[in-house]
Amino acid sequence: MTATIERGSATARVNPPADATAKTTKSRRPRGVLGSSNGKKAVMAVTGAILVLFLIGHMAGNLKSFFGAETFNAYAEFLRTMGEPILPRRVLLSLIEVVLAVSVGLHMWSAISLSRQAHKARPVKYAAKRKSQAGGYVVHIMRFGGITILLFVIWHLLDLTFGVVNPAGWDGTPYERLVQGFDPSRWWVTIFYVVAVILVGLHLRHGLWSAFQTLGLASGRSYRPLRAAAAVVSAVLVLGFLAVPVAVMIGVVK
Ligand code: HEM
Repeated sequence: MTATIERGSATARVNPPADATAKTTKSRRPRGVLGSSNGKKAVMAVTGAILVLFLIGHMAGNLKSFFGAETFNAYAEFLRTMGEPILPRRVLLSLIEVVLAVSVGLHMWSAISLSRQAHKARPVKYAAKRKSQAGGYVVHIMRFGGITILLFVIWHLLDLTFGVVNPAGWDGTPYERLVQGFDPSRWWVTIFYVVAVILVGLHLRHGLWSAFQTLGLASGRSYRPLRAAAAVVSAVLVLGFLAVPVAVMIGVVK
């Protein structure tokens, strides 16, 4: 059995079958910017950056619950009245929601598309198991983590935005939904939130690190500081998000 070393590939491949070679050749047709892997990586990075900015703002907003019902509800009302009187109530918020939804969609599309492209370029598995970030547990965390986060966001909207699965319901104030949603009797909801937020943190750490690498920033002396920065930003977000459900659970926010 012979082995070939591809230019630019880190690992030896073992004789790909003829039809696999044909697929590889077909996938090398010239395509537009969004068809190229660099274009897709740029889409991932831009949509990822939009989502990170949203998460930072959302976490900071959630922490307002520590200042009491009035402050938190005033903040929730501000979100709905942003842009008034130029724009009618909720219009700017709805636009932001559309941008977020489109970002989530494009982020997922580029992830799936990049992974398919990588699979087409390497139809035969590596002969040796790789320990790099491109393989193993990181791929699982990104893939299944991403799907779990999506399911979490759907539940989360039904819970705290629309009140459909929340004891305070649609008629309650945002603060009531928050406090009743994380009531100790609903400990399973809090556990779901804790798991989802930790997955968000892991997803974010890897995503930020990948973005730094894609942008060519993570080399030489900046390698370690940027890796640490990705971990610190993710940890701050995880702790900030978890503070609220935990504070409600133990009665600090009530
Ligand atoms: C675990 C901590 C979290 C808490 C306590 C929390 C709390 C809330 C609350 C109270 C709302 C409703 C705001 C309102 O009605 O004005 C909301 C909305 C939302 N949350 Fe969270 N959230 C958390 C984590 C997350 C995470 C990790 C994500 C994303 C991965 C997320 C995504 C959203 C989205 C997309 C909305 C809808 C925003 C809108 O259109 O108004 N949340 N959250």
